Amino acid sequence: MCLTIPSQVKEVSGRSAVIENARGKNTIDISMLPNIKKDDWILHVNKFAIRKISKKDAKEIMYLLESAKQIDLAGLSDKFKKIIEAARKRALTKDEIIYLLKTEGREKEALFSEANTIRKEYIKDFICIHGIIEFSNYCKNDCTYCGLRAGNKKIKRYRMSVEEIVKAADAAVNNKGYKLLVLQSGEDPYYTDEMLVEIITRIKEKCRVFIFVSIGERGQECYRKLKDAGAAGVLFRYETSSPKLFKATHPKGKNLENRFQHLKFMKELGYYIATGSLVGLPGQTVEDLADDILTTKEWANMVSMGPFIPMKDTPLGKSEEGGVEMNLKMIAVLRLLVKNSRIPVVTAFETVTGEEGRKRAFLAGANSLMFNLTPEKYRVQYKIYDNKFYQNEKMWEKYGLFKYEESYKMIEDRMGEEMVKN
Ligand code: 5AD
Repeated sequence: MCLTIPSQVKEVSGRSAVIENARGKNTIDISMLPNIKKDDWILHVNKFAIRKISKKDAKEIMYLLESAKQIDLAGLSDKFKKIIEAARKRALTKDEIIYLLKTEGREKEALFSEANTIRKEYIKDFICIHGIIEFSNYCKNDCTYCGLRAGNKKIKRYRMSVEEIVKAADAAVNNKGYKLLVLQSGEDPYYTDEMLVEIITRIKEKCRVFIFVSIGERGQECYRKLKDAGAAGVLFRYETSSPKLFKATHPKGKNLENRFQHLKFMKELGYYIATGSLVGLPGQTVEDLADDILTTKEWANMVSMGPFIPMKDTPLGKSEEGGVEMNLKMIAVLRLLVKNSRIPVVTAFETVTGEEGRKRAFLAGANSLMFNLTPEKYRVQYKIYDNKFYQNEKMWEKYGLFKYEESYKMIEDRMGEEMVKN
């Protein structure tokens, strides 16, 4: 489930080979690929060659994972250079974060380049691939930005049965090789705790996979049961750390304290936490975004953050889009602060930027992808916003998903590290 940078075989001797890529030379074990020859291209995980690939595909992957150009720091302001240096040694202050979020031109490019360097230093050239199954688009809430809001009478609602959900997960894990799946829905009380427990239990019986739930506020008891059934993580955004903005975008009865209470007990229950905010909500200031960065750093084992996209059938339908550049700066600053955590390029970002945007996000410090595995017939109806992006997943799935146990262990280790360090 992680795509890694290709290497070329330079020398073969018995069960080992010398390989080379942009990062230099390395000796690895090739016993899994006995027919490998000099000049072949391969993918390897740690010290093991995993797969032979064609030169053409190697070139394509290298293009996607290519290094950013190093930016010459000469000529950039002293303040900027001091902040970048400080970020190597300590957490940044809110003022420093604001400075970085306001950078333009060469300083902005230098910020991206530094974030990319940190990504490579801490997580190497791995791009992790996760899958998401959106199992119900019913929602009892009325968040003003979201197309699934109860007040939106224009979307066709669907619910997947327990059977369908288990089947979709089984295909994703056992046919395609996904090792981390997010099960997401609107806040939909139709699914009782018992049904959710059944879904998780049945998936865990069939699949060696990490299950993340993304089902909103359901109280501590429910999350305890799901954890006991085998859920590993939650994807639960606090959406915005500004109480004023939270109040303006959420209906009565919802409040920010309750979201943080959820995050608190989720953490206590031992969940791996993926959280973050929306970037570019109408009325959001740079100060608010700096607070979001600090809040995400405090709570997230993995970041979940994306641009606001106006959805026509919502109260914010005529507002301006969240903004790609600000989103990239948010990714980059977070990378300077959280160093080894996963920062996915989320679908909302790809919807605004397309495939090229994916690459720009990696070069600004992002390091994972979230692919949509919702069955086709439902997918189009999960309209959080319009024109959701799906593209080029085959290439990533072909090379990014290893069915080997080694690959599962890699995520397990990484998740362990991410939970300890944060
Ligand atoms: N644009 C971008 N993201 C949105 N979400 C909801 N509505 C929108 C929108 N219009 C995000 C929320 C939620 C996640 C599932 O989708 O942040 O947590």
